Amino acid sequence: MHGIRSDIVIVSDGRGNAADIVSALNGFFRLREESLNDCRANGESGAHLTLFCANASSDETFAKLKNVVKARDSEKLFILPTHNSKSVARIKDLGIADYMVWPVDVEELRAKVKKAINRRVERSWAALDPTSRAALESSLVCFEDCFSRVQAGESLPMEMVQSSCQRIRESAQIGTLGGWIDALEEHHNYSFRHSMFVCGTITYFANAIGISGSDLQLLTVGGLLHDIGKSQVPLEILDKPGKLEPHEWDVMRKHAEYSREVLLREQGLDPSAVAMAVHHHEKLDGSGYPDGLSGAQISDHVRLMAIADVYSALIDKRSYKEAMSKEAAIDLMGKFRGHLDMDILRAFRSYMLDTK
Ligand SMILES: [Fe+2]
Ligand SMILES: [Fe+2]
Repeated sequence: MHGIRSDIVIVSDGRGNAADIVSALNGFFRLREESLNDCRANGESGAHLTLFCANASSDETFAKLKNVVKARDSEKLFILPTHNSKSVARIKDLGIADYMVWPVDVEELRAKVKKAINRRVERSWAALDPTSRAALESSLVCFEDCFSRVQAGESLPMEMVQSSCQRIRESAQIGTLGGWIDALEEHHNYSFRHSMFVCGTITYFANAIGISGSDLQLLTVGGLLHDIGKSQVPLEILDKPGKLEPHEWDVMRKHAEYSREVLLREQGLDPSAVAMAVHHHEKLDGSGYPDGLSGAQISDHVRLMAIADVYSALIDKRSYKEAMSKEAAIDLMGKFRGHLDMDILRAFRSYMLDTK
């Protein structure tokens, strides 16, 4: 995935609604604009998606489009300035199945774009070793199913959770955490990406320090489900392309309580995995949430979970912040004395600085 500097390149003929499209997507995605006239027909764009905003019914425009479309191997989406059958037939000829007609519904556009980018990221997993690929593919299906079942008021697919976690454990035995993070970092389902960063971090680290069997499985399950309560947080807060306001933070913080409600309903879930989800925002000095636990009230599993969670957030990029390097993240975490367990952090630090 390295080398991708923009999520989307918007190629426009200069007469359409490119400016409106840019403002609809800005902040949610990294954008670059190119003029159809200046496009290098033989140049790869280095983006996941090329979004064409041009009048395909014009012969002159279509001739240029043909060359550019052929040369780009990214996902492609067309936005037609008006609906006419000539344009639709032409873009289908070019092999582009996905199109929208201006004026577009902004939410629908964002959803389509996100799906196209994710499709491309998910396709890139085919190049990984079969074990990691199976782990990523099954955790994606599992994670999305968990979220939608909770939203529908149904119980979690625990068999699927256990089998996905088993696959993640297997991938930790053969792969590197860096490889796991790389495979996920461009994925635009933020909740999935974050949960998998956390789940991978905890599983690869625990595996490396000799934790195995049911103990490791418990940590992996706790990592995968740790933010399940976020499925109850409104999307405009969960996926907000900017910093949250104080009142939005109040809503976001409720995810720990929601996780408790969801997970306590499940039969057969280890209480330690539930504690990892409910308490990973507690701090050793008692200033965390939701219960204000402190010191010995916070178990080692939860302490490890808190480290994986903070680390995963720091090394992740959001529209309002760059990703931190692993060295910078660990250095910063060393300053969180009243928050994190410094003994576990020391072990985590030596693992992280030793591993790829
Ligand atoms: Fe959380
Ligand atoms: Fe989290």
